[in-house]
Amino acid sequence: MTLSRSQIIGVGSFLPEKVLTNQDMTAIVDTNDEWIVKRTGIKQRHIAGEGELTSDLGREAALRALAAAQVKAEEVDLLILATTTPDNTFPATAARVQAQLGITKGPAFDVQAVCSGFVYALATADNMLRLGQAKTALVIGAEVYSRILDWEDRGTCVLFGDGAGAAVLRAVEGNGQLPERGILSTHLYADGTRYEQLYVDGGPASTGTAGHVRMQGKEVFRFAVNSMATSVRTGLEANGLTVEDIDWLIPHQANSRIIAKVGDALGVPNDKVIVTVQDHANTSAATIPLALTHGFERQLFKPGDLVALTAMGGGFTWGSAILRW
Ligand code: UT7
Repeated sequence: MTLSRSQIIGVGSFLPEKVLTNQDMTAIVDTNDEWIVKRTGIKQRHIAGEGELTSDLGREAALRALAAAQVKAEEVDLLILATTTPDNTFPATAARVQAQLGITKGPAFDVQAVCSGFVYALATADNMLRLGQAKTALVIGAEVYSRILDWEDRGTCVLFGDGAGAAVLRAVEGNGQLPERGILSTHLYADGTRYEQLYVDGGPASTGTAGHVRMQGKEVFRFAVNSMATSVRTGLEANGLTVEDIDWLIPHQANSRIIAKVGDALGVPNDKVIVTVQDHANTSAATIPLALTHGFERQLFKPGDLVALTAMGGGFTWGSAILRW
């Protein structure tokens, strides 16, 4: 048995050029900046241009992650893309990005776990790398939520945005023992009974349309706080670690109040919690790699830092990843 771990060796993100501020939203629905900021922390969201696809956003984020990792696209032998807004019903958006980047080795496939998509994709890549099925993985979270929003529903359309983030992972072998740095564990969960609380009212097999996001915000809010905090605790316990060991907590960026409550529930001080939701709103599978890139570009993560990622989304799905940077 090889003793290896997957290490994140580079991250990158991409946001479309067009920005809609809260003030801009007041021209679309009956809302105001004060309500949006107070209830969600969101100040603006980026919106993909006409013809700009999930694959375009994902490719740009991937190029930046590859550059940060100093890895050539030819070295990648596994590509997993998390999205709820694929370019087409098939082929997988991952396959389009693979072709655009000139990657010819290994599998490319999409993961559909809504806002938990990046954590699901990271866990899948980690398992494949540790099993020796690949050596260098590109894990992408990319979304154009603007295309599945009901722009007449103020309860949802102000909350989401478009964007992408990516991470390059490499399998690293220890010298007769597990390397200290890398992904220590991942924990994934789903509860399909909560369908009505967060879903899209369309799809190729049901309506033949893409549909629009429908959400019972308060129920999702409550579940998000509890599930994210619990899955981080489970991850820490699995590694014999405690909350005090966390250097950086990166929760899914849906709402600054949810993020603050997750931090409070765990007892992680605010200055260890990365918050970027104000700049891009909820970009679903892209929020965690966007926040990771935010920290990486500011050199917040020092070698050996303990980083806890956690997300919750439609499904319901949720989970955590604990990694030593
Ligand atoms: O990734 C997971 C995906 N989703 C989430 O994480 C979202 C989780 N939920 C939330 O973040 C919050 O529940 C929301 C931000 C969606 C809503 O906050 P809330 O404190 O639960 O507000 P509410 O839904 O109870 O609405 C309060 C009031 C209502 O008016 P009335 O009935 O009290 O007169 C809404 O109609 O706010 C009204 N409202 C708005 N007002 C201005 C709802 N949306 C808006 C809006 N602008 N955009």
